[in-house]
Amino acid sequence: MSKVNAASIRGLFITGTDTGIGKTIITAAITAMLRAEGLNVGVWKPVQTGVLLGSGITDAERLLKSTGIHERPEAVAPFTFEAPLTPLLAAKQAGVTLTLDKLIAAGIPLIQRYEALLIEGAGGVAVPLTDTALVADLIAELRIPALIVARSGLGTINHTLLTVTFLRNLGVPIVGIIMNDGELCELHDDPSVAANAELIEQYSGLKVLGRFPRLHAEANSETLIHTIRKTIQFAPIRQALAVQLMEG
Ligand SMILES: Nc1ncnc2c1ncn2[C@@H]1O[C@H](COP(=O)(O)OP(=O)(O)O)[C@@H](O)[C@H]1O
Ligand SMILES: [Mg+2]
Repeated sequence: MSKVNAASIRGLFITGTDTGIGKTIITAAITAMLRAEGLNVGVWKPVQTGVLLGSGITDAERLLKSTGIHERPEAVAPFTFEAPLTPLLAAKQAGVTLTLDKLIAAGIPLIQRYEALLIEGAGGVAVPLTDTALVADLIAELRIPALIVARSGLGTINHTLLTVTFLRNLGVPIVGIIMNDGELCELHDDPSVAANAELIEQYSGLKVLGRFPRLHAEANSETLIHTIRKTIQFAPIRQALAVQLMEG
């Protein structure tokens, strides 16, 4: 069942080179921007671990808060597990066996309610979700393009190129890469930053869409939209969704 419905999903999967890399903040920023442009975009976090709904700090709750979308957090994140473990293990600890079919079936109400979805992964592409599937397998099964969030500083070339290769092996199209300065900004001491984007473009053949700066306060949607407008080439993202919407 989920295969048929997965084929009709329109959206963009936001993955990253690591956990804590900025997927949630950038998913929120892109969503807020698309909504400001008039597209009825929703958010979906197929599985989250580490904190429970109601805490206010789960990714689902953060995504809703910073985009202004009115939706129940349980609808955005149908599978939330408390253990700070990879989804496969956190689910097992809670007595739940995850499968790709179950994960996708739980997103169908969202798929039907919105013109497109911004979907946030868990960790990076090689994170185990089920006994047989990694995050990259979920992306491939959904048949939508991915966008990679990567750190701006040292180590990013290796992590980003590995992520690109992993996704390409599964035939996942990649819209581009967004470098994120993140919350710990020691980047003024990091001489790699200036050249990282260019080298990633050279070796991957992909476009680095921009560098998302460190934001000071808990950012609201206006700040996120303003930051996207200032720092990110948005046309490839808009285009990736427009193509899917045209295909119906
Ligand atoms: N550009 C940024 N400016 C300020 N804080 C950031 C930035 N990017 C990430 N953070 C903070 O760093 C932490 C990890 O980011 P998050 O988006 O949650 O990463 P991920 O979703 O990849 O785990 C969060 O507390 C987030 O608010
Ligand atoms: Mg997150």
